[in-house]
Amino acid sequence: MKTIHEPHLMQREADELRSAGKRIALVPTMGALHGGHAALIREARTRGDVVVVTLFVNPTQFGEGEDFGRYPRDIDRDVLRVSDAGGDILFAPETTSMYPPGYQTFVDVETLSRRLEGAARPGHFRGVSTVVTKLFNIARPHCAVFGQKDAQQVVVLRRMVRDLDLGIEIIVVPTVREQDGLAMSSRNAYLTPSQRGEAPVLYRSLRKGEDMIRAGERSAEAVVARVTAEITAHSSAVIDYVSVAEAESLDPLPTLSPGTPVLVSLAARFGATRLIDNIHIRL
Ligand code: PAF
Repeated sequence: MKTIHEPHLMQREADELRSAGKRIALVPTMGALHGGHAALIREARTRGDVVVVTLFVNPTQFGEGEDFGRYPRDIDRDVLRVSDAGGDILFAPETTSMYPPGYQTFVDVETLSRRLEGAARPGHFRGVSTVVTKLFNIARPHCAVFGQKDAQQVVVLRRMVRDLDLGIEIIVVPTVREQDGLAMSSRNAYLTPSQRGEAPVLYRSLRKGEDMIRAGERSAEAVVARVTAEITAHSSAVIDYVSVAEAESLDPLPTLSPGTPVLVSLAARFGATRLIDNIHIRL
């Protein structure tokens, strides 16, 4: 496996691959790789001739007081993980080569970026959309693979690709979970043992919500109340939001109707650690 640090060298490599007729599949990551990332890389392996994995802790998607400084970083371990999962190229740029002095251009997917996670983390998706656009321009992929765990990220990036005519296929891989249902996340490493013991309540509560919907409940308010009650009854988590929304527009859905793709999503804090999870339901 090859590691490239400089954007212009990655661009040159990508251009050569494209000229040789190779299909490039991209997996953007911020490192601290886990089983969820390995699933993305394995999927990319089936979608392209060359799998490029990017590793960059993107400062522009972290707000003030968030965990940019303490985000787990272990490049040696990540290199092994990328190569074990089937990556061909690891692109790991320095912050100064992605955002050199004088940098001032941003991509903002306006409405979608302000909902849910965007309301709780202003500027987050502007940072994500900007860095992903840069990574697309640097690695020149035919397709890019993301996880369903970051459901809103996928919705925002799909919109961005359409709006800017980027011509890159966005592929989504189901959330990979620990045996007890907790969605794999680099941030799980922050949890204390007792928080780790409580955290699976997030997925359990989503499943309770799903069960209600499948049993015929059509009031989003009732579903939100059930999910919220489950979390508060069984953990010390502080809930940021529980939402029932139309899965593509992220419009709130007061009433669920047949045929509508529904995203039930939530964010909650265990101490200083903020976790998200979601479940996608088609009625
Ligand atoms: O999902 C992530 O890890 C990040 O948001 C991404 C897409 C790599 C952009 O920094």
